[in-house]
Amino acid sequence: MSEKKVWFITGAGRGLGVDIAKAALVAGHAVVATARNAESVTEALGEHDDLLSVDLDVTDPAAAAPAVNATVERFGRLDVLVNNAGSFQAGFFEEMAPENFRSQIETTLFGPVNVTRAALPQLRAQRSGLVMTISSTAGIAADGDFLTAYAASKFGVEGFMEGLAPEVAPFGIRTMLVEPGFFRTELLTPQSTQYAEPSIEDYAERTTTTVAAWKGMDGKQGGDPAKLAGALVRLAGVEEPPARFAAGADAVTTFEQKAGELLAQADAHRGLSTSLAHDDA
Ligand SMILES: NC(=O)c1ccc[n+]([C@@H]2O[C@H](COP(=O)([O-])OP(=O)(O)OC[C@H]3O[C@@H](n4cnc5c(N)ncnc54)[C@H](OP(=O)(O)O)[C@@H]3O)[C@@H](O)[C@H]2O)c1
Repeated sequence: MSEKKVWFITGAGRGLGVDIAKAALVAGHAVVATARNAESVTEALGEHDDLLSVDLDVTDPAAAAPAVNATVERFGRLDVLVNNAGSFQAGFFEEMAPENFRSQIETTLFGPVNVTRAALPQLRAQRSGLVMTISSTAGIAADGDFLTAYAASKFGVEGFMEGLAPEVAPFGIRTMLVEPGFFRTELLTPQSTQYAEPSIEDYAERTTTTVAAWKGMDGKQGGDPAKLAGALVRLAGVEEPPARFAAGADAVTTFEQKAGELLAQADAHRGLSTSLAHDDA
């Protein structure tokens, strides 16, 4: 095993967070597994000398600092923060209630913002640490119906991490974004996905087919979260963790398609794009 590290994982009572906690424990690390209900952690992971479960709703800006304090009290430090907690507000933009759109941003953009803000003073004091944030392929490309709120939050977290990286690099702190494709977790179950209430006839037919398609995917996603968790533990241990990790063959395709699209878009109006400076510039 490489050096023993202290992991802090959000949303670790079910889904991918449980697999990451298990993989980190198996690799010999200490784990602070946080969840809205810490009992769900104990149900999923049992008791372990190197495991501390802590209540943490990532949307509560005041809740993260006590959880970080509990981590340092128990294990003396914090090495790898995993911003994992997530949910899916699904629906056509015009049909999604504003409060549901906002709740997506609260969970998957402000959640990582809240927890990272609380963790950074400890990481900075140590002059080391890794902030790993589980984004999505929807943070690279918003390709398909029902994705506006989710992709807005995931694109947001991409910008947050990319912008944070140079600010904290001088303190030995690194950031890593993970963009999973489809993984077989509980994300598409009613516990995690909320569908917008249909209200506009123009969308009715597409709503029926899109809801059926998303529901049909639940439990059949190709990605194995245990394998992803193992990969993340491995990458957290390398000298230079990647700034982005395309998780799954489908994610690699999304990266390649988006890169190609951006290059084509940069080129499409190159003359006009490059003609916008002041004459004296
Ligand atoms: N599975 C995929 O295909 C996929 C693809 C791309 C990205 N992702 C991302 O992967 C991450 C993990 O999702 P998952 O696939 O494991 O989904 P999941 O099985 O539905 O698990 C979601 C987890 O997040 C927790 N959570 C939700 N809101 C929270 C809050 N306000 N505070 C604390 N915890 C909260 C849930 O806890 P509760 O039990 O309290 O609800 C649950 O533990 C998410 O960021 C998701 O967007 C997943």
